[in-house]
Amino acid sequence: MASSAQENDRVNDLVQQMTLEEKIGQLTQLGQYIPDTVPIDDRIRQGQVGSILWLSDPAEINRLQHLAVEQSRLHIPLLFGLDVIHGFRTIFPMPLALAASWDPTLVERVQAVAAREARACGINWTFAPMVDIARDSRWGRIIEGAGEDPFLGAAMAKAQVRGFQGAEIGSPGHVLACAKHFAGYGAADGGRDYDSAYVPETLLRNVYLPPFRAALDAGVGTFMSAYMDLNDVPATGNRFLLDRVLRREWGFRGFVVSDANSVADLATHGFARDLQDAAFRALSAGVNMDMASRTYLEHLATSVQKGRIPVAVIDEAVRPILATKIRMELFEHPYIDESQIQSILAAPEHRQLARSAAQRSAVLLRNEGQLLPLKLHDVKSLAVIGPLADSQQDLMSAWAMTGNPKDVITVVEGIRNKVGNRIQVEYAQGVEMSRKYPSMFDVLMGRPQPTPWTEAQSQAELDRAVELAGRSDLVVLVVGELATMSGELASQASLELPGRQVELIKAVAATGKPVALVLVNGRPLDLSQVAERVPAILEVWHPGVEGGNAIADLLVGDAAPGGKLTVSWPRGAGQCPIYYAHNLTHQPDASPMFTSRYWDIPSSPLYPFGFGLSYTTFTYSNVRLDQAEARRGETIHVSVDVENTGERPGDEVVQLYLHQCAGSTSRPVRELKGFARIALAPGEKKVVQFALGPDELSFWSSAENTWVQEAETFDVWVGGDSTAALHTTFKIK
Ligand code: BGC
Repeated sequence: MASSAQENDRVNDLVQQMTLEEKIGQLTQLGQYIPDTVPIDDRIRQGQVGSILWLSDPAEINRLQHLAVEQSRLHIPLLFGLDVIHGFRTIFPMPLALAASWDPTLVERVQAVAAREARACGINWTFAPMVDIARDSRWGRIIEGAGEDPFLGAAMAKAQVRGFQGAEIGSPGHVLACAKHFAGYGAADGGRDYDSAYVPETLLRNVYLPPFRAALDAGVGTFMSAYMDLNDVPATGNRFLLDRVLRREWGFRGFVVSDANSVADLATHGFARDLQDAAFRALSAGVNMDMASRTYLEHLATSVQKGRIPVAVIDEAVRPILATKIRMELFEHPYIDESQIQSILAAPEHRQLARSAAQRSAVLLRNEGQLLPLKLHDVKSLAVIGPLADSQQDLMSAWAMTGNPKDVITVVEGIRNKVGNRIQVEYAQGVEMSRKYPSMFDVLMGRPQPTPWTEAQSQAELDRAVELAGRSDLVVLVVGELATMSGELASQASLELPGRQVELIKAVAATGKPVALVLVNGRPLDLSQVAERVPAILEVWHPGVEGGNAIADLLVGDAAPGGKLTVSWPRGAGQCPIYYAHNLTHQPDASPMFTSRYWDIPSSPLYPFGFGLSYTTFTYSNVRLDQAEARRGETIHVSVDVENTGERPGDEVVQLYLHQCAGSTSRPVRELKGFARIALAPGEKKVVQFALGPDELSFWSSAENTWVQEAETFDVWVGGDSTAALHTTFKIK
């Protein structure tokens, strides 16, 4: 790898040779799917393109790269960017599910496999990880992030960057990563995707930005600016975010790409006067590369000629893009070896990892009477019922466009694989569901929509499913959402289980047969009508290609659920946004008169942040500190004993929460500041230790307008979720 001085020389050398048009070309990302008057081949030959997006065909990638390297004047290779979100061909659980594993090592391995497969096919840049904090389940893109918490979000951001990029940018078999969407995108008003976000600086600094900062600390090469207005300034033209925070405070040296079309959209927002102004304002805010809109290509040169943009500013924008291409050794190795692709995509260890990731992402939400793991010795017939029980497409997410639904093991298949001929497994769909407004992804992929069932057919299918449940010994009911019901442009107002699923659950439960409910979905859903009607609920999210096998492993106890929620699960959409790290009110205790709450339902979530059951039980004891008083800047160590007090082996996610009791500002009731997923055999006890240093004890104070660590008293709780009771305190002097 070139030293930074050599890299600098090469960048300078190129910049000196480049025409203004070629420089603007490097700032431009285009693709065949974007309507254009000039064929993409010509644009590449003329040096008008720095990067191609939405292309995954290896032969076409090689062809375009040959054009760039052999037929453009300066032979600068292209970056090929794509959304490789949770797998390329081997689709893994969706990101919110991966986060529910609370296992950064697993997440890093998953994204390393995704990178390996993508890179083999010519993709050298992924638009991931998405590190937006989301506290509103109505927002469809909650599925793409790690949930509501900045500490966990930061850990997952780091793990993903390391997985995608490897030890450093340019690691063989890896891709360039992109932290998106900078910033505040998850705070969309009303949970409506793309809507404006109003995030005060204290929330931005303490909650929304830390995962981005973590991605940067892990060496992420690129950032993507978000679509929406942040505090009235569109993120793509937002100098505060892109210049002051990202470059000047954080010292980011890579490059920023806009979200798709968001440079042109500065005019649509009513922020820029016209497209020329949009190009000027995005560039001067700090967006290096224009994704898809051609606004830079068509308008920047005029601004330079008019003297509105100095050439030096263009040069500064081009430099990190060239430096990245050099660091990735694209000049030396621009092409891929197509003969290697098949063996890489078919590597059996990729599917094994997908199975283990799906097992580790699952969260057991309810298990009355220990229905799970299923006791199968006396079972002769098992009904697998529900609209997601035999679906391949819906075990992947909307982003899994390079995956192949045919690779997916459905729940019915997984269960049949598991029980063989010992038990008769029968399937009934029961109900169907669809979106009221079509999905962007279905439209883009040209997927035909199924003809809706007639009223008579709906009733007949429901009756058939209930009849099957009635004559079976045991029922596995698989409900939730279609893959297209979460993700981009998939916000949902009600959070209710779509279609007639609630009716199906009630009718199946009324047969009196034991029912294990398996949830396949991208976001928390309103379970208020059904949670108490079934003894067991296993949340498996959109679990990926090995979903069916992993679910079967979990249902029979060949694997044990050990995941925990990374979002507070609301009782209904009316509670959104909801998050555990809120501040205290002046009436925090549960006094019936004055407590801040709704008059119709409690304020608490249905399942708290960090919650998840196991097939065994854990006991926490003996929380202790190495010192009960420390000076600012010192580190306090907290230890706790955790014991498996049940009969089966299991994993526990040990969590530490902190509360600063007083200070220059009010602080949240609790904040996650440490976690560890550990495996314990029956009867086994382990000591888990956490370190609380300046990073954990500091916060951005809106009163002081800066980062502070204050000499105050702190509460500490350790336990298995955000309601943990085991408590101690310490003082910072
Ligand atoms: C999304 C981004 C994505 C981009 C490119 C946009 O619509 O907001 O997350 O990376 O498209 O596919």
